[in-house]
Amino acid sequence: MGEDSAPLRAPAGTHDVLWPESARWERLVAEFARRAQLAGFGLVVSPMFEDAQLFRRGIGDDSDVVRKEMYEFSDRGGRQVALRPEGTASVVRAFVQHHPPVPWRAWYVTPAFRYERPQAGRYKQHHQLGAEVLGTDDPDVDVEVVALAADFYEWLGLRHVDLAVNSMGCTECRPAYLAALVAYLEEHHLELCDEHRERYRANPLRVLDCKRPECRAVTEGAPRITDYLDEACAAHLARVRAGLDALGIEHRLEPRLVRGLDYYTRTTFEFSATSLTAAQNAIGGGGRYDGLVEAIGGPPTPGIGFGIGIERLLLACDAEGVFPVDPRLPDAFVIDVTGGTVARDLCAELRRAGLETVRAYDGRSLKAQLKQADRSGARVALIVGPEELAGDVVTARPLLEAGPQVSVPRSSVVEWVRASATEDTGDDR
Ligand code: HAM
Repeated sequence: MGEDSAPLRAPAGTHDVLWPESARWERLVAEFARRAQLAGFGLVVSPMFEDAQLFRRGIGDDSDVVRKEMYEFSDRGGRQVALRPEGTASVVRAFVQHHPPVPWRAWYVTPAFRYERPQAGRYKQHHQLGAEVLGTDDPDVDVEVVALAADFYEWLGLRHVDLAVNSMGCTECRPAYLAALVAYLEEHHLELCDEHRERYRANPLRVLDCKRPECRAVTEGAPRITDYLDEACAAHLARVRAGLDALGIEHRLEPRLVRGLDYYTRTTFEFSATSLTAAQNAIGGGGRYDGLVEAIGGPPTPGIGFGIGIERLLLACDAEGVFPVDPRLPDAFVIDVTGGTVARDLCAELRRAGLETVRAYDGRSLKAQLKQADRSGARVALIVGPEELAGDVVTARPLLEAGPQVSVPRSSVVEWVRASATEDTGDDR
């Protein structure tokens, strides 16, 4: 086989989601949408690529995401664009462009692209569920946003989730903290990892986020941002923590939590699945970004939100053995050995009546069709042979449990299948 005809594969770091695994995605997204709606969020769909400037200005030129991981290129018209590495900057850009009334609550489900070295739980294209609230700095909104994510994990059945909370302070109190942190790092810079030994001055907060043991050891004794918060930021954090306590959401204060994107102010939080290996166990995170709207050219507007990585979330579910793949059970499998016309019409009728129906094609033998029916997981086979055709009936044969075969008049097949489905599943269809 020549190179040109070799089968192509998905690029490294990307993956296909096929059925039945994709059934989990459907349920996950549907449940998240339902919960977001209950909390007043509406769906926002925005472009997969944007002017690269948006992410530079929004996420920060000095973040790893922009510096090392962005899929950035000039298009055929010479415009510098980037595939979205995350969802927040685009939602904020849409807010600035369309100025909807505040508070504005948006949820989304989106692919996100980051040029990272692929490994378990780390992909070049991953997918996020996210929610953002723009236009209020009420700490109770922070509580609502964290609760939306926390309750969702709980619904999935996850029990080993650690929630770390911190405050990044604000433009008023952060400079004093940064000065103290730089002074401390200055003293210890020879002990830092190779990258941060050179770069700690450019963005000292990155050192706190560094997972390498050298940096972890140094930052153990570093000044804590929580000791530098001004009165308003400290009060905000206290109100958020009290709210989480009131709602029964367990969390711990983690003063070294800074997260990888530069737009955060005040509340930041990260959910980790302790069932996964530490390097890729963040299953969601977010925080407040009270300066981001302005940085993107809008009026001063506070905001807060989170993103949940769907792939990692499902890995965490697998690790805990929760949220299993639902075996899909069609209501009926139609077997027609008289040429297929009855199957064609009966399938349409059953589906229009809301009953999940599958069938065989290509005029296969009765034996082959019965085998397919068994494999399909359908509850009942509806068999049409020459005798049934002549008598205008269908033979219904239960497939999942032992039971008698019955002859059902052709005109009442839909009612019969519906009644038997309700009997079996308790579903009210
Ligand atoms: P993030 O922490 O960069 O935040 O990403 C959110 C989540 O996406 C992570 O917790 C993780 O589950 C997942 N994730 C990130 N990168 C990868 C990857 N390479 N492979 C697999 N999963 C990944 C944000 O993106 C912010 N926009 C969250 C936010 C919203 N902050 C405020 N509003």
